[in-house]
Amino acid sequence: MAQLLRGTCLVLPFLALSLAFPTSRSTLPLCNDIPQPCSCPAGATFENTTTYATIGAKARDIGHVTNDFFNTTWFDVVVIRTTGVDNVYGATRTFSIGDNATLTEKLIERAVYPDGSFIQRYRQNPVPAEVQKPAAEGGGTFVGYWETLTVTQTSVADESNVAYGAYRCNIGDPFDTVTFHVDSINYAIAALTSEGLLTGTNTAPYTIGAGS
Ligand SMILES: *[C@@H]1O[C@H](CO)[C@@H](O)[C@H](O)[C@H]1NC(C)=O
Ligand SMILES: *[C@@H]1O[C@H](CO)[C@@H](O)[C@H](O)[C@H]1NC(C)=O
Ligand SMILES: *[C@@H]1O[C@H](CO)[C@@H](O)[C@H](O)[C@H]1NC(C)=O
Repeated sequence: MAQLLRGTCLVLPFLALSLAFPTSRSTLPLCNDIPQPCSCPAGATFENTTTYATIGAKARDIGHVTNDFFNTTWFDVVVIRTTGVDNVYGATRTFSIGDNATLTEKLIERAVYPDGSFIQRYRQNPVPAEVQKPAAEGGGTFVGYWETLTVTQTSVADESNVAYGAYRCNIGDPFDTVTFHVDSINYAIAALTSEGLLTGTNTAPYTIGAGS
């Protein structure tokens, strides 16, 4: 009995501690291309947000505007350099973020389904690459982000659900991903409208998630 109690005394405080504190993020694997709970390098803060919206258009038409990796017209950025084959795993695109700073992104997953639904995943390349945000943009740095754009055709012919998510490792005050996602969805809507492809009902984007 004494033996048992001693054992219990050792185990109980440990159990209480595990219950009181959620798993420390630093015990998780470093963030990588696998979308799973992860940790950031020392000094960087983890952030994970997803912006949802419904766009009043066919998923296939939304893909026509947004699912060409080398064509970033829809989010108002000009690609200055590419490597690899467009829309094939490993392709990279580089664009200017002001001053002499550039960002390079690598396509890490892309699939299009028979109903036009699709998924596109890309990440900052290479990882970890510390990018200095230009002073004119407010400064700040970040050391890696992973983005997933998922568009799912609904049972309404001209309505599709959009989820635009990102997990990332921040240092200081980097770019505002949520604003980028909301702006990108609105650019896509504007492009679809000008092509006469927006015939259904949109719902305004909303975002869940935050840093930790
Ligand atoms: C980000 O949050 C979503 C839920 O909103 C979750 O499914 C996903 O696993 C999270 N990603 C990471 C890398 O923690
Ligand atoms: C890029 O996308 C825009 C918007 O959808 C489209 O007007 C333009 O023709 C595309 N450019 C190329 C080179 O495909
Ligand atoms: C950008 O690069 C050019 C040429 O190397 C240099 O003259 C200029 O000062 C740089 N601008 C900034 C903001 O760093």
